Amino acid sequence: MDSIKILKYKKVKNFLTEEERNLLLHYTRIFHRINFKNDLVYGQTDFKETSKYGDPIMESLLINKKDLMEKETGLKLHPTYSFWRMYNMFSELKPHIDRPSCEISVSVHIGSDGTPYPLIIDGKKILTEPGEAVIYLGTEFEHSREEYLGDWYSQVFLHYVDANGPWAYCAKDNRSMWAVDADPNWISETKQQLEKYKEAKK
Ligand SMILES: [Fe+2]
Repeated sequence: MDSIKILKYKKVKNFLTEEERNLLLHYTRIFHRINFKNDLVYGQTDFKETSKYGDPIMESLLINKKDLMEKETGLKLHPTYSFWRMYNMFSELKPHIDRPSCEISVSVHIGSDGTPYPLIIDGKKILTEPGEAVIYLGTEFEHSREEYLGDWYSQVFLHYVDANGPWAYCAKDNRSMWAVDADPNWISETKQQLEKYKEAKK
C-alpha cells in the first residue's frame, strides 16, 4: 500500500461505524442547538456555526482512530488534536494550509441534511457520504470548502503527526492533557518553524 505521503489524499469508506456515526450525529446536533440558543459560546463565524477544539468525545475518537489511521496511511502516528464543526448555510472554509500539528489530517463526515459539500484539496473536489472520511496532508496541500447551501453539515477534523517525521514533537498539540486548549505562543512558534522548514527544502 502506498503511504499517504505518496498519495495526495485518500478517501476511507466506513471510517466511522454506524454506531459511532449515530452517536456523534446526535451529539453534535444537540450541542449545536444549545450553543445556537446561547448565542454561540463555541462559535466560528457570524453564520452561527458551532465549532469546538479538543471536545472530550472527539479527542477520544482521535485516540481511538489512531490504529485505523496508521493502517490507512502506512505511517506510525501520534495524535495531536481534534476539531469539530457544524457548518450552516453560507459557511465556507477559506483556502489554507495548516500548522505542523495537522501534518496528517482526516476530515470525517458525520452527517448532514443531504446537501453535497465537497472538500477541495489541491483543486480537486471530494464528496463523501456520512461516515466516510478523507485523509490528506494538511501542511502540504491547500484545502477549502466553498459556500454551503444547505442548513447543516456536521464534520470533525482529527489531526496526527508522523512519529518518525519532523513534527513528531507536536504530539498531543504540546498539551499537558487531552481536551484542554493549546498554548497560542507555541502554536505561532510552530507555524514559523514550518515556514523555515519549507524555505530550507526549496
Ligand atoms: Fe485545515
